[in-house]
Amino acid sequence: MRIDDALFDGVDLHALALRVGTPCYAYSATAIRQRIRSLIGALGELDALVCYAVKANANLAILQWMAHAGFGADIVSAGEMQRALRAGIPASRIVFSGVGKSEDEIAQALAAGIARFNVESVDELHALQRLAAARDVIVNAAVRINPDVDANTHAKISTGKSENKFGVAIDEARQWFADSARLTHVRLDGLHVHIGSQMLSLNPIRAALQRTAAFWRELVAAGHAIRSIDVGGGLGVCYRAGHDHPVAIADYVGVIRRELAGFEGRILLEPGRWLVAEAGVLLTRVIRIKQGQERRFLIVDAAMNDLARPSLYDAWHDIVPLTREQRPTQAYDVVGPVCESSDIFARARELPTCEAGDLLKIMTTGAYGTSMASTFNSRPLAAEVVLDCGRYAVVRRRQSLDDLLMDERPARDWENV
Ligand SMILES: Cc1ncc(COP(=O)(O)O)c(C=O)c1O
Repeated sequence: MRIDDALFDGVDLHALALRVGTPCYAYSATAIRQRIRSLIGALGELDALVCYAVKANANLAILQWMAHAGFGADIVSAGEMQRALRAGIPASRIVFSGVGKSEDEIAQALAAGIARFNVESVDELHALQRLAAARDVIVNAAVRINPDVDANTHAKISTGKSENKFGVAIDEARQWFADSARLTHVRLDGLHVHIGSQMLSLNPIRAALQRTAAFWRELVAAGHAIRSIDVGGGLGVCYRAGHDHPVAIADYVGVIRRELAGFEGRILLEPGRWLVAEAGVLLTRVIRIKQGQERRFLIVDAAMNDLARPSLYDAWHDIVPLTREQRPTQAYDVVGPVCESSDIFARARELPTCEAGDLLKIMTTGAYGTSMASTFNSRPLAAEVVLDCGRYAVVRRRQSLDDLLMDERPARDWENV
């Protein structure tokens, strides 16, 4: 271990783990601020609004930083909308994506007065028209196009191929615009595209934007006003040092500038992972070591319910033991206590020899960590802590067993339907 491995945003992680317990997520405020600053810097004078993808990390403390930066929010549920609003993100900066917006959720978003709906099916478009008419409001909408571009990422986080459930084909979108005069309460004046997540190359992003831009030009030539183009999120981060090479933010924005050159409306961006992933670590302690028949298991107190990415996507996360002295390495399968063989953070990973009680940090867990967590195996949700230049603040206390059981009761109060 390097001396500074145990220091994160000026906080000694050993001391933190003793105070807060493990498993525990720790997020560096400094790292998040840096990302926010460099994104704002790269966008420069562009007429752009960053709508942080709440799904990446929905903790209110994180959302508040986004609000302070002047960012909006990309939401996919009424729950995410409430979080964004409570964190101080104004409704006028909220966009609503997702294939399964319920009528109740659409009505809530209309009542809140959000900026824009990213519409993903003709049925949703008609529901939006009906519900907006019922409220007698005119709502802004973008069509999410599915450009049939391969994001070259994991299949489960790829969203822009024609076989995916997201968006509609450009041919269908063309028809929506042709028929848009009939939409008395929906102002269809935007395009939206998001082809996938954890992209480490600009090529698919460029290809998707080229198709979107060609469509925008065609629509304008046909007399339609296009006031916003939402380029989605998807920028990748480094999960494996020396192996993953994320694109530079300036290059990403350069592609947007080039492909959308001449566009006079507002450009929306929906980054999630890129803003927060590398700012987070998951702290976990070794419970015990078990020599199996074929493999050596390092059993830690975090599990797939805390961090689902490895079990869902076979995702790699660097793991750094915070042992104080130099030790020889060994290959371990790093696993959690959950009763599933998929509860595994790493296979045959070479790590310094570990002992029960050692503290490890699982890297790059600021995004899609807590936001995908569950209480599987009746494991309470982990604590979340924000670090800032030597200080820490608990931004979600560890869930107690009482919290976990709070809404359950024996089947006593029977009712007839
Ligand atoms: C519509 C939409 N926008 C933005 C994002 C954020 O993506 P990322 O976290 O990769 O930036 C997602 C993620 O799935 C999404 O579905």
